[in-house]
Amino acid sequence: MDLLQIKDKNIVVMGVANERSIAWGIAKRLLEAGANVIFTYRKDRSKSKLDKVLADYIEYNTAVIQCDVNSDESITSAFQQIGEQYGVIHGIVHSVAFANAEDLKNRFVETSRDGYAFAQDTSAYSLVAVANAARPFMTEGGSIVTMSYLGGDRVLDGYNVMGVAKAALEASVRYLAADLGAEGIRVNAISAGAIRTLAAKGVPSFNTMLHKIEESSPLKRNVTQEEVADMTLVMLSKLSSGVTGETIFVDSGYHIMG
Ligand SMILES: NC(=O)c1ccc[n+]([C@@H]2O[C@H](COP(=O)([O-])OP(=O)(O)OC[C@H]3O[C@@H](n4cnc5c(N)ncnc54)[C@H](O)[C@@H]3O)[C@@H](O)[C@H]2O)c1
Repeated sequence: MDLLQIKDKNIVVMGVANERSIAWGIAKRLLEAGANVIFTYRKDRSKSKLDKVLADYIEYNTAVIQCDVNSDESITSAFQQIGEQYGVIHGIVHSVAFANAEDLKNRFVETSRDGYAFAQDTSAYSLVAVANAARPFMTEGGSIVTMSYLGGDRVLDGYNVMGVAKAALEASVRYLAADLGAEGIRVNAISAGAIRTLAAKGVPSFNTMLHKIEESSPLKRNVTQEEVADMTLVMLSKLSSGVTGETIFVDSGYHIMG
């Protein structure tokens, strides 16, 4: 029995920078499950990386479209193109975040107005703008999943302005879920454990965090890209049809500890 029912569904995956990206782990699983995967990238540099990782997947149904989430024009044009090409969008993986390096290095109290706004714009507001642009094409209902982190709930050393952005992202998930539920669109966040990726390099205390999770999480280890991908597939699929507005932790249980 096909429990996932993801085969031939059109899923947009935003945020593959390279093969370490959380979004790439998710995309691989989606392709294996028979979904059509539409990738979005920000800059030409990311496109060449994306083309490289996709080289082994030429027999699969994929598309690659530019979308800079800091620009309304770019978001509208990307989803217009996806809508025209695929007709219906069944799911979106929003795996995008960015903050200025100095805002993660300095004390949080020193965060600049611009740095605060930029982190919010890229990492939280982008989900709202994407949901609104995709909505006209999500005519059969669907599922939107974004990536969050524990730093949105608790103060984690060096996460600073990104923690505040993740708090806004998780609140946006709840408001979007309430707005879009009547259209059959579910919106959820996965709060992933620490995984060594390009974005993680910008967090100064990242290695300490990895060790802490190994020492004190119930599972006594860090999570893998595959484990985050598997839960994302569940959240995109029929298996989670009764769940919306939720933040689901895939973090070896680290967040339950005192
Ligand atoms: N790695 C971790 O430990 C971890 C843990 C929890 C949550 N997350 C979250 O997972 C998501 C993916 O991060 P990752 O760790 O896979 O790192 P990553 O660097 O591989 O992915 C981040 C992506 O965001 C994209 N991006 C940034 N600004 C953009 C813009 N203006 N327009 C379009 N795309 C833009 C980048 O191009 C990149 O593809 C992020 O939201 C991150 O906060 C990561």
